[in-house]
This record gives sequence, C-alpha cells and structure tokens, in this order.
Amino acid sequence: MEESLFTPLREAGLTTLRISHHWKSGVVCLRAGREWGPEVEWSRYRRDFTTEAPLTTDGGCLGNQEVRELFGRHGLGEYLDRVIALVASARHEGIEAFFEPRRGIRFMYNMHSSTLGSANGRHAVRSGGIRRHDPEAPELHVIVDGLNLARAMSFKNAAAGMPFGGSKITVQCPPVDLDDLGTVGFLAYCLDRTRSVTGPDMGFTPSLSDVMHARGFSANITGGLENRLGPTGMPTAYGIYLALKEAMAFRCGSPSLAGRTIVVQGLGAVGRPLVEEHLVKEDVRILCADVDPAAVDRVVGRHPERVKPLPLSEVLTAEADIFLPCAVGGILDEEAIQNLRCQVVMGAANNQLKATTPEEEIRLARLLADRGILFQVDWVQNAGGVIAGMEEYLRGEEASPESIRAQVERACGLGTRENLAAAAREGVTPTEMAYGRYSAEIYRQG
Ligand code: NAI
Ligand code: PHE
Repeated sequence: MEESLFTPLREAGLTTLRISHHWKSGVVCLRAGREWGPEVEWSRYRRDFTTEAPLTTDGGCLGNQEVRELFGRHGLGEYLDRVIALVASARHEGIEAFFEPRRGIRFMYNMHSSTLGSANGRHAVRSGGIRRHDPEAPELHVIVDGLNLARAMSFKNAAAGMPFGGSKITVQCPPVDLDDLGTVGFLAYCLDRTRSVTGPDMGFTPSLSDVMHARGFSANITGGLENRLGPTGMPTAYGIYLALKEAMAFRCGSPSLAGRTIVVQGLGAVGRPLVEEHLVKEDVRILCADVDPAAVDRVVGRHPERVKPLPLSEVLTAEADIFLPCAVGGILDEEAIQNLRCQVVMGAANNQLKATTPEEEIRLARLLADRGILFQVDWVQNAGGVIAGMEEYLRGEEASPESIRAQVERACGLGTRENLAAAAREGVTPTEMAYGRYSAEIYRQG
C-alpha cells in the first residue's frame, strides 16, 4: 500500500483531512470528511459557489477514533503516527489535506504558527508560498518539505516584522496548465479554505497568481507578473545581494566582492536576477548550475565574460569564495558540509540545512562554523519575497516598490549585519542567534 494520507481518503470517498495540534497541551485532533463529489465544476468557483457553499448532500464526517480506524484498516496507522510526530516535533499547528479525486490533486496546507497573525484583522493569519511536487515524489518527503517551509515562514515573518504566522502549501500534481481552469479553480478554492496568503514558489510560475486574479478566483495570492510590483524573485534577489555584502564586510572587513569566485545553484525566479541584476555588475567570476541546461545557457550567453557553466555534480564541492544556493532545500547535510570548499554560504533557497527541527539546524550550523564557513539560517536573508507579497496584500493600490526596497534593506541587509555581529558577541553561530532571538515571540502562546 502506498504510504499516503490520501489513500484512505480516496478509498473511503473522502476529500478532506485535518490534523490539528495544540503544541502547548500536546492535544492532537483528527477530522476527515466528504465535502464534495467528483461532479463539482471547479472552473465555476466564485461564479456559482464560494467556500461557504455545501458542495454535496452526500457528506460525512469522521472524528478522532474513526480516522485512526480508517487508517488502521488500510495498514497506514503507523504512517499517520509518523506524520503526527513530525507535526509535533517542531511545534506545528497541523496539516489540512484536500483531495480532488478526478484529477488526483493532493493539496496540503502545512500550518506552523498563527501567533503573530491572529490579531491582524485580515482573512489570512499566516503567510507562505505555494510549491508543487511531482506526483511520484515520496509523500513523506513532501510533508517534511512543507512542514519545514512553514516553520521557516514563521521565523521569516517574525524577523521581517510581518504581522503573520507561518505556513506553506504543497501540491502534488503534474505541472499545471494555467488554461486548465478546473485545476486552477480547485487550487484557488483550497487556498481560500486556508487562513493564508500565498505567492508562487518552486514548481509554480508567477502567472498562477495572474490567472487567479484575472478570473476572480482568489485574492489570497500575490506575486504575479502583471501587478505593478512584479514577481517576488527580484526583491528576494536584492535581499540576498545585500546580505552577501554584509557577510563579506563581517568576514573580510569590506563589502567588496572584487576578485571573488561565486557559485550559484539555480537560475530561476531568484537566482537569475541575483546574477543578472547584481553579481555581473561586480568584478567577479560566476559559476552557475541548474537542472535546466537552457537556464544556464541563457545567462552564460548574455554574460560570457563573467558567467561560466558548472556541472551539477560539482556544485557542492567546487572551489570558490562564495556559494549561493538558490534552488532546492536540504542540500547541506553532514557529508556535504565536510566537502564544501568555500568560505561563505548565503543563498535564497529555503531550508538549506537538511533537518526537521531548529535544534538539528543549529547542530549542522555549528559544523559549518567549525569548518570556518560563514553561514546563517536562510530565513534571515530571504525575506524579500514575503515582504513584497505582503506589501501587495496589505496595501493594495498604495503598495510601492520604494517601500519594499526599504523593508528589504532593513530586514535582509541590516538584519544580517545585526545578526552576524550579535552572534560573534555572544559566541554562538549566527543560526543559533537568529533562532534564539525570535523563538520566544513565536511560541509565546498556543
Ligand atoms: P524557481 O522554480 O523559479 O527556480 C528554481 C531553479 O532551480 C529552476 O531554474 C530549477 O530548474 C533549478 N533547480 C531545481 N533543482 C535544482 C537542483 N537540484 N540543482 C540546480 N538547479 C536546480 O524558484 P525560485 O523562486 O527561484 O526559488 C529558489 C529558491 O529560493 C527556493 O528554495 C525558494 O523556496 C526560495 N525562495 C524563493 C523566493 C521567491 O521570492 N521566489 C523567496 C524566498 C525563498
Ligand atoms: N514563497 C516565499 C518564501 O519562501 C514567501 C511568500 C509568501 C511570497 C507569500 C509571497 C507571498 O519566502
């Protein structure tokens, strides 16, 4: 039997599962239900029905014990317990799962914390991106990714002064054709069922946001190409560039990058502008790698004098001054850390350390420090995207690029400067410093 939360749902004709966890008391509550049938026309979402409408008369609802029995009948009781343990281990609020049986779409809303957003007066109390995974990806991997990303969002929002808790949406499905309004409508419906505001992350393009806005599907998504502020990759790249300069100033006494060799992993929404808008303007040598060879060819072709391709297999071992991970997370485990041959790691990728709890991240960060590599947990420097998204969500017509720029400079630039200096003063790693600074705020209430 495939290890999936969705298998028992599918077999029992159910559509939703909610795992709620109250981290202070340790109480876990399970609910599952049949909330729609296969006949719902999702392309009609917000034209014929809203999230408040009943979508089936043939519904049903299972409580704690019944959900456990259902999973037990499918041999998935232990799997459910493993997922619950993951939710509990880093003090998450839970997971909401939504299933679209006709298309096989598995939508998961990973909730870390709502504390900083619970009194913001908005529909969304949490914010975090929406990321796609392939249908074949092992589900536990997707869940770990979603929970880690949600947790990072809580800390990122706190560090950037955003009035939101942290969450992340993961969707397991094939690449989405944005003309397929049934699929986009279903994603919008699920998004609106959550108390979150989102923006496209890996696996979705900024156009997802444009289509959802143009069709009137959802106002809870930001970061499209067609809004005045543009996609979120640009401000994220700017924040990484500022943080890198701060890291160099801290490490070498000058922010200059002159003469440095820089490895960039991933040339997507963040990596490409990081290279093309910022790094190529400096006297540096850039080595780029991407699983999509065309992405590398494009950037190398436009800047042949500065940028050279780097084989994917050499990303983690290349001799360089600086390594900027701007693709997948979980790349820095013990072995990778031992093999790195750079002095500074300061990228945009979320959750660069391969860990599921802050404690484990702090341990791995110590190994980096022991090797003399300057590193801080990514959420200190990669807040540019959420800053831009929340500017759009909170300020609407008043939103301005100047305001985003100023917030990015404060959060990512100054935030990095202060964090590195404070860590040095306290004799801890910058990662431990950052976690110590924001944990009390995030975990102040249940
Ligand atoms: P993207 O999907 O636009 O680009 C990712 C790029 O990395 C793609 O070109 C892809 O082909 C490449 N890639 C994927 N796996 C790779 C691998 N194993 N090795 C080398 N290249 C690989 O994503 P985006 O938006 O640029 O995000 C990059 C990272 O930054 C992600 O971890 C994301 O969560 C994080 N991030 C993005 C923000 C944003 O505003 N877009 C904000 C904060 C963090
Ligand atoms: N996906 C962004 C990140 O990983 C955050 C984001 C959230 C962007 C909400 C836009 C809207 O930081």
